[in-house]
Amino acid sequence: MKTRLRTALPTLALDRDSGIPIYRQLYEAYRQAILAGQLRKDAQLSSTRELAIELRISRHSVMNAFDQLLAEGYIRGDPGSGTFVQAGFLGDTDLHDKGKSRCQELPGDVLSREAIRIAKAPHMPASSPPIPFRRGLPAVDKFPLALWSRIVASCCRKMRSGDLNYTEPQGSVAFRRTIAEYLRNLRAVKCEPEQVFVVSGSQQGLQLIAHTLLNEGDPVCMEDPGYPGARSAFLGVGANVLTVPIDDEGMEVNKATQLPRMPKLIYVTPSHQFPLGVTMSLGRRLSLLDWAEQSPAWVVEDDYDSEFRFVSRPLSSLQGLSPDRVIYVGTFSKAMFPSLRLGYVVLPKNLVRAFSDSRRSNDFCAPFLTQAAMNEFIVEGHFARHLRRMRVLYAERQSAMLIALRREFGNYLQISNTDTGMDLVVWLPASISDTKASHLASRAGILTMPMSFFYSTPSKRGGLFLGFGAISQNQIREGVKKLRRAIHPLLSHG
Ligand SMILES: Cc1ncc(COP(=O)(O)O)c(C=O)c1O
Repeated sequence: MKTRLRTALPTLALDRDSGIPIYRQLYEAYRQAILAGQLRKDAQLSSTRELAIELRISRHSVMNAFDQLLAEGYIRGDPGSGTFVQAGFLGDTDLHDKGKSRCQELPGDVLSREAIRIAKAPHMPASSPPIPFRRGLPAVDKFPLALWSRIVASCCRKMRSGDLNYTEPQGSVAFRRTIAEYLRNLRAVKCEPEQVFVVSGSQQGLQLIAHTLLNEGDPVCMEDPGYPGARSAFLGVGANVLTVPIDDEGMEVNKATQLPRMPKLIYVTPSHQFPLGVTMSLGRRLSLLDWAEQSPAWVVEDDYDSEFRFVSRPLSSLQGLSPDRVIYVGTFSKAMFPSLRLGYVVLPKNLVRAFSDSRRSNDFCAPFLTQAAMNEFIVEGHFARHLRRMRVLYAERQSAMLIALRREFGNYLQISNTDTGMDLVVWLPASISDTKASHLASRAGILTMPMSFFYSTPSKRGGLFLGFGAISQNQIREGVKKLRRAIHPLLSHG
């Protein structure tokens, strides 16, 4: 039985200054209300026109929010009768979201403002089985696990009782020396071991940066589309996230300079823009640094996957051009494996002390044994060998992916971001909603991320972000076939 009463949300406060797009706030409010059981199965929602008038927002924003809810299976449209709460089907991002809905059931004053802001921010999927086309996963099936186990065991045997104590907040000296040398040689990062901070993955680095440098309301500038992990770290501390579009030279710095406020921090992915894959040109890098100097603003350079650039050599780091202004963030999640939880931050010298203090109040220090094993893996040459092997493997997987996409889709889809061999973007014909396509694919067991998820403003064209670094060529071929079968109805009507 359908509930005939039209349901608007009882408590919906849209915050135009939060840096979170209106359509996303609306989507999030409905999603939370459905998960919390506040909106029950089969309840009818107000029409997009009614809601737009009631909330004084554009109908386009309401439609975008509804599109996303529809694509993820929270609501359904019954032609001729309206839109209803669907429930029963939860999209693949909901494994961790169930925890969030429990948060929503707590009384309002239990959680900190930060926890609530983080719960509201868009999240990357948390746990990730390597099925087609879950993005962001390296080839864990080919990681030399036996060798790694031997190294970990041998480092453990070499430990002395003194190594069981708390270690330096920045990380072990030997490991920092190795990282500094690696970054100087490969990425032209200008640094001494004293500037290196070992962190448990770049996400902790971003959190540390946000907590050490930002206050509530501070303007932070990000790329649009951009990395949700960084966005949630900045939104968590209450920063005001301002976004700047990307063209084929990277962040459009001339547009950034017209922002209403000078930012305190600018976050960029210059060697391989996330998620479009563009490399920031040298001209743009220089204008960005010039603008950062005037603001003055810290520049955070997230160099998350430059080890696997195999089409062209990545440009040297931005940090190398301005070591006193740029904070360089890197990770071993792609080159090794994500559960290792090891990354690094290279700081301007004058920030080192403050970051050490912050780290002490966070988790004191990185685990000794993991650092020791990773250090040995690099120093003994295994890391370089592993990278060489992975580059070949990713090139093979990418080629299988491109052939399969062309065979199944012909010229229907436009392919971009093919520089690394771990993931790519396929752009859909203009009239097709990527959230719908992603939803259809997920029902067929294929995981994709709609490109609109990464934009803070509605994107002009839909696309799917597909990861294939962690799956075999056979899985790739089968996965592409399933994807075609799943989204065929959209393509044939598009
Ligand atoms: C842009 C970007 N930065 C950083 C990371 C890695 O995060 P972590 O080192 O915390 O695993 C990712 C992972 O997908 C990413 O896409």
